[in-house]
Amino acid sequence: MPSSFLFSISTLSLLLLLLLLLAVAGEPPTAARSRTGESDPTPTPWPHQFHSVLFMNSTGSLQLIDLWYDWPNGRNFNIVRDQLSASLLYDLEWNNGTSFFYTLDGDSPSCRTAQLEVGILRPGWLEGGSYLGRRHVDGFLCDGWEKADFIRYYEDVETKRPVHWRFYTGREAHVMTFEVGAALEDAKWQAPAYCFDQKEVEEDEVAPRGGGSASASL
Ligand SMILES: *[C@@H]1O[C@H](CO)[C@@H](O)[C@H](O)[C@H]1NC(C)=O
Ligand SMILES: *[C@@H]1O[C@H](CO)[C@@H](O)[C@H](O)[C@H]1NC(C)=O
Repeated sequence: MPSSFLFSISTLSLLLLLLLLLAVAGEPPTAARSRTGESDPTPTPWPHQFHSVLFMNSTGSLQLIDLWYDWPNGRNFNIVRDQLSASLLYDLEWNNGTSFFYTLDGDSPSCRTAQLEVGILRPGWLEGGSYLGRRHVDGFLCDGWEKADFIRYYEDVETKRPVHWRFYTGREAHVMTFEVGAALEDAKWQAPAYCFDQKEVEEDEVAPRGGGSASASL
């Protein structure tokens, strides 16, 4: 059961990876043009550092995620708790494409690494998304955008904070806190020693290259 847990996290990362690949490919934002001729709102770029607590719902499986986004240091952390689980899963992603998925405590601490073609999401990753209009989401008046039929993303009209996003798979995030400028101390970004002495596993689990293979693993 740790392995299925790990798999679902790695799937989440692949979703983000595919988004990035699509963003890099740079499709023109034609769908974002307003019928009235007025220009549509554009999504607010992510702050370069923030901490967010996310309430996740993936067809009824609930999780809390501590998300630490740290663009200047090229790293992104998802610390994940399944509902009522005693242990946490750490999903640490570096901008050089290396990701570590590990547990720290419990009977069997584990670690898996993956090497992806691209790094973490850029602050402007939503650029070029199609505007979905304005509506209430989770009780907040929001502007929404859709990126590449892959994710729908909603931000608060007034504060510009993200409120909610939903992947096409149905996996949804509700943003519970959003602390701009919050940064996790350096020492916490160190993957445990057992992540570095598993050469064979590491090589076996290297992710296939390219966006095609990423989407095939969804
Ligand atoms: C989680 O999502 C499912 C639909 O996939 C929904 O039926 C359920 O009410 C949601 N649970 C919570 C706690 O939001
Ligand atoms: C990427 O950076 C991390 C953190 O510095 C490091 O542990 C990892 O070995 C690097 N990966 C590559 C492929 O250089």
